[in-house]
Amino acid sequence: MRNPAYDILFQPMQIGPLTAKNRFYQVPHCNGGGYRDPTAVAAMRGIKAEGGWGVIFTEQTEMHHTSEITPFIEQRLWDDADIPALRRMSEAMKTRGALAGIQLAYSGINGPNLYTKEVPLAPTALPIRTFTNDPVQARALDKTDIRDLRRWFVNAAKRSKLAGFDLICLYGAHGFGIFQHFLSRATNQRTDEYGGSLENRSRFVNEVIADMRDAVGDTMGITLRVSLDEHIGTLGFSNAELREFIEMNADLPDLWDLAHGTWEDCSGPSRFKDEAAQETLVTGIRELSSKPVVGVGRFTSPDVMARLVRQGVLDFIGCARPSIADPFLPKKIEEGRIEDIRECIGCNICITGDMTMSISRCTQNPTFMEEWRKGWHPETMNPKGESSNVLVVGSGPAGLEAARALSLRGYDVALAEAGTTLGGRVARERLLPGLSAWGRVVDYRQYQLSQRANVETYFDSRLSAADVLEFGFENICLATGSHWRADGVARQHVTAVPADPAMPVYTPDDIMAGKRPTGEVVLFDDDHYYMGGVIAELLAKEGCKVTLITPCAYVSDWTRNTLEQGAIHRRLVDAGVTIRLNTGLASVAAEGVETVDVYTDARARLGCDAVVMVTSRVSDDALYRDLMARRDDWADAGIRSVKVIGDAAAPAPIAWATYAGHRYARELDMPDIGDALPFRREVTALA
Ligand SMILES: Cc1cc2nc3c(=O)[nH]c(=O)nc-3n(C[C@H](O)[C@H](O)[C@H](O)COP(=O)(O)O)c2cc1C
Ligand code: SF4
Repeated sequence: MRNPAYDILFQPMQIGPLTAKNRFYQVPHCNGGGYRDPTAVAAMRGIKAEGGWGVIFTEQTEMHHTSEITPFIEQRLWDDADIPALRRMSEAMKTRGALAGIQLAYSGINGPNLYTKEVPLAPTALPIRTFTNDPVQARALDKTDIRDLRRWFVNAAKRSKLAGFDLICLYGAHGFGIFQHFLSRATNQRTDEYGGSLENRSRFVNEVIADMRDAVGDTMGITLRVSLDEHIGTLGFSNAELREFIEMNADLPDLWDLAHGTWEDCSGPSRFKDEAAQETLVTGIRELSSKPVVGVGRFTSPDVMARLVRQGVLDFIGCARPSIADPFLPKKIEEGRIEDIRECIGCNICITGDMTMSISRCTQNPTFMEEWRKGWHPETMNPKGESSNVLVVGSGPAGLEAARALSLRGYDVALAEAGTTLGGRVARERLLPGLSAWGRVVDYRQYQLSQRANVETYFDSRLSAADVLEFGFENICLATGSHWRADGVARQHVTAVPADPAMPVYTPDDIMAGKRPTGEVVLFDDDHYYMGGVIAELLAKEGCKVTLITPCAYVSDWTRNTLEQGAIHRRLVDAGVTIRLNTGLASVAAEGVETVDVYTDARARLGCDAVVMVTSRVSDDALYRDLMARRDDWADAGIRSVKVIGDAAAPAPIAWATYAGHRYARELDMPDIGDALPFRREVTALA
């Protein structure tokens, strides 16, 4: 039963000529599938419809071939040929009464046009601003170009209608959409009637919306996603100027979609941004216009959502990541199943799928983007196979997810944990600075397991092969994790770094176990994800003088994909960490380390009292190997299968572990598919 305090979230609300059934609004988000995997993306949106969202949007959709963001593979609406794929998407969105929205993006100063080879067009001729600093500049739109661009928007609006959408979102936030480029003095330095005063800078968006209203406004809602603050002072489009703009154009769109000026700010990870982090920037804007307002802020708490609507801060609760982690979030609130919400942990792994142009993953929801590819549903498992029980060894993210999903399938599950707490690496890592929200990976699963009668958990159970053979379980799932190496082996060194044993060397496991170096510490990061930066921050805050050396050109290099690399660098500098980039570790001596410049091979001595190696991990797979060595004994012991998963198979981020656990549970007792591809895909049709 729904808590009446949340009734307000289920009130219908009008957007232009249409009415949304509730206040749950899935704002545009990409998924690493884009135009390459249309049916996979459509199925993912269809699941959100099932989960109860009132409004569901596509990701940004390139609305004309003169502005595209290759190598990223966002959706396209370049001509009629793109309509069928988008219609599949809108139909999936509308299955349960949600409004289907398409976000139209003209990328302007953000589109290098690497694929179409067209000259980029922008309000002002400046270098293209992309993650990859493409050596390309834009030509300033002249009056004819502006007329053309207005027509292209109308064409795109008509095609959106033909593709079955109810709403159009014009993209003008995150630094990505042309409306922001016109509004901001930083990217609009024109001296004609489209530049200068705010009124002039607002002209283009006014013209486009007027054109679109004439074309489709009687049947479609037109929303404007606009930057809350570019955070570059008065040169950029500031929060104060946004308020002025909205006051000046109060009735312009059918809804104001408020999102930060940069993507890094808007989708900031939990390490740097709390829930509702944009509240101050949004508060008061609703009073400036009669049109409804949607805002974002990694909302997972229904109390926060209801408060924001009740206080008149927002009309719609915008969610990207929370809708990925739990597509059934609205339904669970509606059914009073708050404890069942799989809360987003704010790790931004979902964004890495887009940044690497692969296919997105979600740490909390392993079924994300597998709804069609593998037929995985986030709430429902496939029926149980012919065996009846499973021993899961290890309660880290892989083991916990395997146990949860297996129990849902109907297996009797015994979960054996060597220690005294559930969670494995997550139980340790959640205690590191900024990572407490990651503990939700454990909390969600721990609660779910506590609700299942067919799962038994055993602590202090470090098992040998003999124990396992004695127990008589049919299926053995080994999720025994991994540990960090102390010998420096990773990418720079594929064999151990020469080291004098007189120098104390620590690993992340040591630090997480409470051991501490003192004095001057050299941290060697050849892992390049978050761990090096997090431990440097921890030790510096505890009083060590930390020098972080890395062979990479960036601190925590891979976190450029989670949009937090800049924030990590800033935080380390603030904490007093000395950062030495492009610097490898040549050897460890008794009184310090020898460093090596990765380009020139120049060597230097760096004195220190201790070294922390954040390099790579070794699978803890001894039990798996022992059991494989005793394969001949399996039949007598009643064992049908033994499988190693997660970090015990090959160390990787937590999202890989929850995926592995889920996959194990899905595939147990399933027919062997031999050499067949284990997922569906769409292959480009030949012309
Ligand atoms: C994986 C991912 C892809 C995104 N892609 C888009 C996009 O295509 N267009 C857009 O306007 N915003 C995009 N965003 C930003 C979100 O719409 C949203 O503004 C931001 O993530 C903050 O909301 P949240 O805290 O609910 O995630 C994306 C966010 C994520 C996590
Ligand atoms: S990958 Fe991480 S940030 Fe993205 S939705 Fe899932 S839990 Fe949230």
